[in-house]
Amino acid sequence: MVCPSAAPPAPTLRMWLGLGLFVLLCLGLGQALEKKVVKSKVGEKASLPCCYEIPHSESLQNYRVYWQKNTMEVVLAYSHGELIDSHTRYRNRTEMDPWNCTLWISPMEILDNGTYQCVVQHKSVVVCDEHVTLFVTADFSKPDITAEVTASSCESTEMVIICSSHGGFPKPKISVALNNESVEWNTSWVSESSLSPYNVTGTLVLNVTKDVNVTCSVEYDGFAKSTSLLLEKTNDCVVPPVLPPYNVIIASSIIVIIFILAIALAARYLPRHVCSHCRKPQDLVEEGTKEGMKPPVSPKVTSETSSV
Ligand SMILES: *[C@@H]1O[C@H](CO)[C@@H](O)[C@H](O)[C@H]1NC(C)=O
Ligand SMILES: *[C@@H]1O[C@H](CO)[C@@H](O)[C@H](O)[C@H]1NC(C)=O
Ligand SMILES: *[C@@H]1O[C@H](CO)[C@@H](O)[C@H](O)[C@H]1NC(C)=O
Ligand SMILES: *[C@@H]1O[C@H](CO)[C@@H](O)[C@H](O)[C@H]1NC(C)=O
Ligand SMILES: *[C@@H]1O[C@H](CO)[C@@H](O)[C@H](O)[C@H]1NC(C)=O
Ligand SMILES: *[C@@H]1O[C@H](CO)[C@@H](O)[C@H](O)[C@H]1NC(C)=O
Ligand SMILES: *[C@@H]1O[C@H](CO)[C@@H](O)[C@H](O)[C@H]1NC(C)=O
Ligand SMILES: *[C@@H]1O[C@H](CO)[C@@H](O)[C@H](O)[C@H]1NC(C)=O
Repeated sequence: MVCPSAAPPAPTLRMWLGLGLFVLLCLGLGQALEKKVVKSKVGEKASLPCCYEIPHSESLQNYRVYWQKNTMEVVLAYSHGELIDSHTRYRNRTEMDPWNCTLWISPMEILDNGTYQCVVQHKSVVVCDEHVTLFVTADFSKPDITAEVTASSCESTEMVIICSSHGGFPKPKISVALNNESVEWNTSWVSESSLSPYNVTGTLVLNVTKDVNVTCSVEYDGFAKSTSLLLEKTNDCVVPPVLPPYNVIIASSIIVIIFILAIALAARYLPRHVCSHCRKPQDLVEEGTKEGMKPPVSPKVTSETSSV
């Protein structure tokens, strides 16, 4: 047992605990070796379980309860049912259940990350002592991938691929996979302190010789987010790229327009000229018959209107 070398209790605790309680405290620390772990996200509510349920025949009045962090900092302390101490950083953000002594912290902050200790004392006897490790995480943004072409030839296109994600905690891993095969790349992290949100960036120089699926993943404390981007190999050099593409488009569209115009003009004028020569007799006959039919109709109409 590593009890004697374990961190000493905070000064406030020492005040209350006699040497005779040392053995009990040791037992408590022994239990704490199988530490409880709580994970929580920034802004959420975390619940840190204590180790004792006050029997309903009694009440918090007969107990002292301490919640402290990293063995030095008192988060809050209750004595005779009253709050006797609380840390300014935790003030208005904490609550304690009066029966099972569960500590609630809301909203969670990155600085709350750490190991907490709950000590319950009944008539000067420590009835339980528990360590709870709180891991605080903050979500990273979905990774953003950009690909910039730095050089291009018939065989390959050289690209700089940059993937970034920001605003998360703790320090993450950022990895890249090409067609589902992970590759090494350069990564960098930015953070104001070890207890501040991180921005992370990965950079890769890649020769694209065929279509490739790039997947970038950011992993932090058991969570992962990823983004994929399909990089297409464009210039295959089947036709030598002598003219820049837009010139080719303009030239070919001018040719197409001229061609369409020629067809349109031909369609409009050629048939009329042909017909004016070959179909005239027929047309005349048809017109003649139509005109021949009309006269009987028009007198009827005039007679009807005149009779009205
Ligand atoms: C403590 O009590 C609260 C409120 O009754 C309950 O929500 C919580 O689950 C309890 N925690 C434990 C560890 O028993
Ligand atoms: C806690 O809340 C009270 C009232 O809502 C306020 O007066 C006090 O300044 C707050 N304390 C802290 C440390 O924020
Ligand atoms: C958060 O607290 C735990 C427990 O003390 C510690 O192991 C971990 O390193 C802390 N994380 C960071 C990023 O400081
Ligand atoms: C990617 O690789 C993993 C293991 O390396 C495999 O389990 C998974 O099925 C693969 N996915 C695809 C789409 O090939
Ligand atoms: C990482 O960056 C260094 C210097 O900027 C460079 O020499 C190296 O080739 C890069 N490694 C990879 C895998 O991109
Ligand atoms: C991280 O990235 C965000 C958004 O891009 C930016 O506002 C912030 O200043 C960056 N933080 C650091 C420490 O560089
Ligand atoms: C990519 O390929 C070109 C020629 O195909 C070569 O000149 C260049 O050095 C290559 N770049 C990398 C990063 O491998
Ligand atoms: C790229 O790979 C990822 C992960 O393997 C997969 O989910 C995604 O559908 C792939 N995208 C394309 C366009 O192939």
